[in-house]
Amino acid sequence: MNQSAKLALGDKSAELTLRSGTIGPDVVDIASLYKNTGLFTYDPGFTSTASCESKITYIDGDEGVLLHRGYPIDQLAERGDFLETCYLLLYGELPTASERADFVYHVTRHTMVHEQMSRFYTGFRRDAHPMAVMVGSVGALSAFYHDSTDITDPHQRMVASIRMIAKTPTLAAMAYKYHIGQPFVYPRNDLSYAENFLHMCFAVPCEPYQINPVLAKAMDRIFILHADHEQNASTSTVRLAGSSGANPFACIAAGIACLWGPAHGGANEAALNMLAEIGSKDRIPEFIARAKDKNDPFRLMGFGHRVYKNYDPRAKIMQQTCHEVLNELGIKDDPLLEVAMELEHIALHDEYFIEKKLYPNVDFYSGITLKALGFPTTMFTVLFAVARTVGWIAQWKEMIEDPHQRIGRPRQLYTGAPQRDYLSVGDR
Ligand code: CMC
Repeated sequence: MNQSAKLALGDKSAELTLRSGTIGPDVVDIASLYKNTGLFTYDPGFTSTASCESKITYIDGDEGVLLHRGYPIDQLAERGDFLETCYLLLYGELPTASERADFVYHVTRHTMVHEQMSRFYTGFRRDAHPMAVMVGSVGALSAFYHDSTDITDPHQRMVASIRMIAKTPTLAAMAYKYHIGQPFVYPRNDLSYAENFLHMCFAVPCEPYQINPVLAKAMDRIFILHADHEQNASTSTVRLAGSSGANPFACIAAGIACLWGPAHGGANEAALNMLAEIGSKDRIPEFIARAKDKNDPFRLMGFGHRVYKNYDPRAKIMQQTCHEVLNELGIKDDPLLEVAMELEHIALHDEYFIEKKLYPNVDFYSGITLKALGFPTTMFTVLFAVARTVGWIAQWKEMIEDPHQRIGRPRQLYTGAPQRDYLSVGDR
């Protein structure tokens, strides 16, 4: 029998059903609250609100656990690869050998973008931020692939999903190439997903490009670590946009726009800029003091998380990947890494950070790794968007396929002027 919670207010009361998931806190189902009591709930920032039911990703922020379809992120990152993770997120199970080969084949055969897209790029200024180009170009996919925008057709939904996983790396690499004034490099179907991405970003037509397997593995792992993260701001944006029936390309473009913010995906860029600004270990105390000062808006970028009140499990793997990449490239004394490690050490032992449970998040080490791989800081959030595309798409698909799905329409606590009469301009 379902348990219930009782809410009593004066002579009004409501019996609210408690719902249990497989793991994680129970939820109080308040869907009938307004109908029965005339009350709304108030939860800005959704700190206590489950916005949907989902079977894709589970996070236990207190324990530092992240599971995709039940599998711990460290096992997926150490033993699997990105396309396998994509399959898992989309279909719910790890693929068999033949399912895997079929999926890889389909993603690989969708990596090219409509040739006219390349002319679309020339409309942007060369100095545009590549995230601005991504918002525009991913949104523009809906103008090129009409045959996969009917969201009521399961086949079209799947084609759109595969297209987006396959094409976002191509669009991201094109945004980078356009930014630096180099010719676009077409995808190569004989390469893995991560290898192909590195190739499209760093190859030039005038000489062969050698792919370093250690760096390709690191790229793949970075994609896995960012693939999905439950109902974060950009995923909730995608779900909300999709709830109106908007086409999936437009919804993912909305997710990319949200991800761009420095409190979300933009944090890896901000974290690296911060490490560069700190510059040397002796300046760390000054920045720690600023982070603690209530009157200073400065925050330690790459620290803290809305859900994790423990070490972000992705940060541990990211730190290890960072060391592997620097080792492979023979970077022994990277000043940014030195500052990062010292900063992490000091913050983890500082009363302010301990008390507020502020630990390094995935973005703390990803910036140093991406810089070592050869990406400029402006590309960091773009790489996050490439990886997160599968999470957005899986969550979007789950929502569309949910028979209880309705348009998302939050309510508000209105604190503006009550009704009043219009005054002619001379009477104001
Ligand atoms: N440096 C210093 N103080 C901090 C920090 C920080 N990075 N993060 C939180 N705090 C303090 C904050 O000032 C507040 O103190 P008080 O209670 O005295 O007012 C307390 O900790 C709680 O912070 P909050 O802003 O209420 O927490 P939130 O859950 O709303 O914010 C966050 C989460 C990630 C936006 C925030 O920790 C932050 O701004 N971190 C830096 C940006 C960052 O690294 N973002 C990447 C997140 S992981 C990747 C992703 O999911 O996109």
